[in-house]
Amino acid sequence: MELSTPTGKALRQGAFGNATALACRECGHQVELGPHYACPECFGPLEIAYDFPLVTRAQIEAGPRNIWRYKALLPVPDDIETSPNTEPGFTRLLRADNLGAELGLSNLWVKDDSTNPTNSFKDRVVACALSAAREFGSKVFACPSTGNLANAVAAAGARAGIKTVVFIPSNLEQPKQVNSAVFTDSLVAVDGNYDDVNKLASEIAGEEEGWAFVNVNVRPYYAEGSKTLGYEIAEQLGWRLPDQIVIPVASGSQLTKVHKAFQELIALGLVADKPYRVFGAQAEGCSPVSVAYKAGVDAIRPVKPDTIAKSLAIGNPADGIYVLDICRQTGGAVEDVTDDEVRAGIVLLARTEGIFTETAGGTTVAVLKKLVETGQLDTGLETVVINTGHGLKTLDAVSGSVAPAATIAPTYAAFAATGLA
Ligand SMILES: Cc1ncc(COP(=O)(O)O)c(C=O)c1O
Ligand SMILES: [Zn+2]
Repeated sequence: MELSTPTGKALRQGAFGNATALACRECGHQVELGPHYACPECFGPLEIAYDFPLVTRAQIEAGPRNIWRYKALLPVPDDIETSPNTEPGFTRLLRADNLGAELGLSNLWVKDDSTNPTNSFKDRVVACALSAAREFGSKVFACPSTGNLANAVAAAGARAGIKTVVFIPSNLEQPKQVNSAVFTDSLVAVDGNYDDVNKLASEIAGEEEGWAFVNVNVRPYYAEGSKTLGYEIAEQLGWRLPDQIVIPVASGSQLTKVHKAFQELIALGLVADKPYRVFGAQAEGCSPVSVAYKAGVDAIRPVKPDTIAKSLAIGNPADGIYVLDICRQTGGAVEDVTDDEVRAGIVLLARTEGIFTETAGGTTVAVLKKLVETGQLDTGLETVVINTGHGLKTLDAVSGSVAPAATIAPTYAAFAATGLA
């Protein structure tokens, strides 16, 4: 069957690499690759299906130091490196012995995704969505966002020379607004929460021709970018999986894709098969998945978010039910923490490891601490915690908790009087 773009132009050969179709997560029904996201049979979410060739560690290791080293495992063409993009990924996996000692964990790592081009893991998903938008011949690159995604879309669009329009809740942190507006003249602040913004985006996607909303109508392609976090963690550990991993949850996409990445690596024989436990982290003021987990139910009841962790403030998470499945099946858990614990988590990571995380990372570190304290995490096992964003974007969260220890005259006597020597 000849595939075509929404504008009727034929898709070029190999536009989506080794991807073969879109498959429904619920009923398995397959549809051809295109800008589709809902199953025509049951409205379930579509995700990318592949026919992978033989992929070796050596091939991957010979690739560029960014996510395109895994291009054979992504829905992107073989010549992806030749089109302008932000080249995200291959961020540091750092041993976290100080944080581990503080929490009583003997073998802890931090995957620090705050060093991506726009300082969050969203550059990974956006790079994959941009490739899809390009192949579909889309004329506008757009998204509804809790902040970081808007930054990543606006920057990637600027680099690629495609018009961007990004939608955010109007109460978003100022630095996140500036970090988008600097790249695009079409930042739209909407008076409503993320779920309202998301609904508006779906409506616009239905009305306008040729708009690629990265997390709406090209969501299956976008979501695959998060798999690269899982691939990198395994490669950086020396081609093996960790025993436990703690991941923040907003829509839940990232957590489900890290798990998918681990499963693919096992299936391809790139890592040894072994059990691992996946843990989800939420802030109490927006914890629909954690609430369902603790209640032992499968249905997720949407909430109205009220938390300083605005990047995680999705009250109706699209992939929430799959997060529940994965955390339960792997013997993990979903946990939540208060805003005060989020602030303390940010400072704890900064003071122990020299990493300044945003509220999402504060949530994840605070959940890690709570999982240890409540005995839900095995302190002797190798554990990875993901830092998904940078603290400079949410300065207000901790500006009331940290400050100069003293303000003094420029004299030795004044310094000596502080007792800091
Ligand atoms: C910094 C940060 N971490 C984590 C997430 C959660 O991502 P997901 O929606 O894939 O669960 C987001 C989402 O916006 C984010 O901005
Ligand atoms: Zn279906």
